[in-house]
Amino acid sequence: MRIATAVLVTALTVTAARAEQASDRYAPEAGSVTGIVAPQQATARRHMVVAAHPLAARAGLEVLDAGGSAVDALVATQMVLGLVEPQSSGLGGGGFLLHYAAANGGVTSLDGRETAPAAATPDMFLGTDGQPLPFFTAVVGGRSVGTPATLRLMVEAHRRFGRLAFTDLLKPAIRLAENGFPVSPRLADLIAAEGERLKHDPVTAAYFFDAAGAPLRAGATLRNPAYADTLRRISDGGEDVFYRGEIAADIVAKVMADPVNPGRLSASDLENYTVIEREPVCNTVFAVEVCGMGLPSSGGIATLQILGLVEPWGIEHMSPQAPETWRLIGDASRLAFADRERWLADPAFVRAPVAGLLATGYLSLRAKLLDGPNAMPEVTPGQPAFDDGALWPMPPAGVTPELPSTTQVVIRDDAGDMLSYTGTIENGFGSRLMVRGFLLNNELTDFSFAPTGKDGAPVANRVEGGKRPRSSMAPTLVLRDGVPVLAIGSPGGSRIIGFVAQALIAHLAWKKPVAEIVAMPHLLNRFGPFEVEAGTAATALVPGLQALGYRVEVQELNSGLAAIAVTPAGLEGAADPRREGAVLGR
Ligand code: DON
Repeated sequence: MRIATAVLVTALTVTAARAEQASDRYAPEAGSVTGIVAPQQATARRHMVVAAHPLAARAGLEVLDAGGSAVDALVATQMVLGLVEPQSSGLGGGGFLLHYAAANGGVTSLDGRETAPAAATPDMFLGTDGQPLPFFTAVVGGRSVGTPATLRLMVEAHRRFGRLAFTDLLKPAIRLAENGFPVSPRLADLIAAEGERLKHDPVTAAYFFDAAGAPLRAGATLRNPAYADTLRRISDGGEDVFYRGEIAADIVAKVMADPVNPGRLSASDLENYTVIEREPVCNTVFAVEVCGMGLPSSGGIATLQILGLVEPWGIEHMSPQAPETWRLIGDASRLAFADRERWLADPAFVRAPVAGLLATGYLSLRAKLLDGPNAMPEVTPGQPAFDDGALWPMPPAGVTPELPSTTQVVIRDDAGDMLSYTGTIENGFGSRLMVRGFLLNNELTDFSFAPTGKDGAPVANRVEGGKRPRSSMAPTLVLRDGVPVLAIGSPGGSRIIGFVAQALIAHLAWKKPVAEIVAMPHLLNRFGPFEVEAGTAATALVPGLQALGYRVEVQELNSGLAAIAVTPAGLEGAADPRREGAVLGR
């Protein structure tokens, strides 16, 4: 049974790799424009970094080669990503870090999520008609901007786990920003696809379009002296330069003075921003411990729920080519998304039954609902136990659209420290506002636009001043006997949950190596249609899924998975072939 499964997964993956060649156009070209040999799969013995751009991975590798820790390498990598992949993450955004420290065996998770300004209100994404605003009306401009968090997160992570001087870690990005770097094929495509939206802010337009108004082409040399200046100021003056000084003032002015869509950010929002250490969420599944990011991300909880729901059904003996297998994974995902939508939001503002949602008893009750053979006709949230034993009323579902950008980094250093970090400015190019060489996030649109349900009851993930918008980001570490054997994560908005859960099932249950799990065609269910990845072998499953009762949508599913496995033979790393990421190690 196991062998048959293995053959089938391989067949599915290989066919997919072939079918995907058209969309798999970025990595080799990214390597050729940057002049770096940038493999998307590699092995190493000592240390390794996987990041979404070859230049960012190179910056991380240089730090590791110089004896830096995993977090040192992350700082250098993130600072370069903010330059070369500006649409996805950077100083204007936030992120979540899951970190394993070899020195004491501890797993720490740090929440560097952007916060809603103190002046934010539940109705701020409703139009004058009381209806949720169209997504891009909300996104573009100052209204969607949450307090930027990335720098505080990097500083805090470095304070705990850094080895080299922070200022040295900014140097690769400063150098590249001053000397220029080649625009990657993916960035060029995204600029061209954005068109007018990217011209909302003249500063953004001047950066991404040439003097004649044409979008930058792949291979064009782009310099960012404003970003270099920002990093130099941080280097000289520390994080306060950003959170209190002139940079803070510029961020606030940009958000508040937006001529079309002003926001609510103030100097005190920036001054008061804090990174929060959270309890990682961990459960034992498939005989290993899987640890993820807790609230305000729903990513770890939902991923763990999916794994816990499919494991009792013997998924390791099921074929990835059988519609029945995807019925199980898809309906487990629908159950997890039903709970996510109702219960999960910033725990400083809502009572969230995290332990209850992951309790063995609760998961086995929910798993019983997966008894086949067809798609569940109706999926509703469960009633998990709360820590205080009370039965709190279930909040209504919200309205939270989520669309692409975001970046994933995984690193392992010589000492055995290992991390998974997902960083974001939310939508591609965030709010489209640019300040001092970086883009500001639109993270506030991760809140529910509708503050209340039909009955007027408040939605858990409604906007509130000082609250952190619910995320789906799922940086994940897998530990065996207390030691990490896998670090993984992906961009993809709420699809992140399905991307990561599927990769974990393929690795832990079907024993597939990381190179295969990041390339496998995707099949997802986020409480709606079954989403099947276009141009891949997964489309062969469409008639079978329809026969089981699903509405199916075949579409591009643009994950950006990054993974490092620690195997007896050494480190194995893989970057998603759908994007231009690279794996570098020694
Ligand atoms: O925090 C979140 O879940 C989203 N803001 C992440 C956005 C994202 O991953 C877009 N992806 N391609």
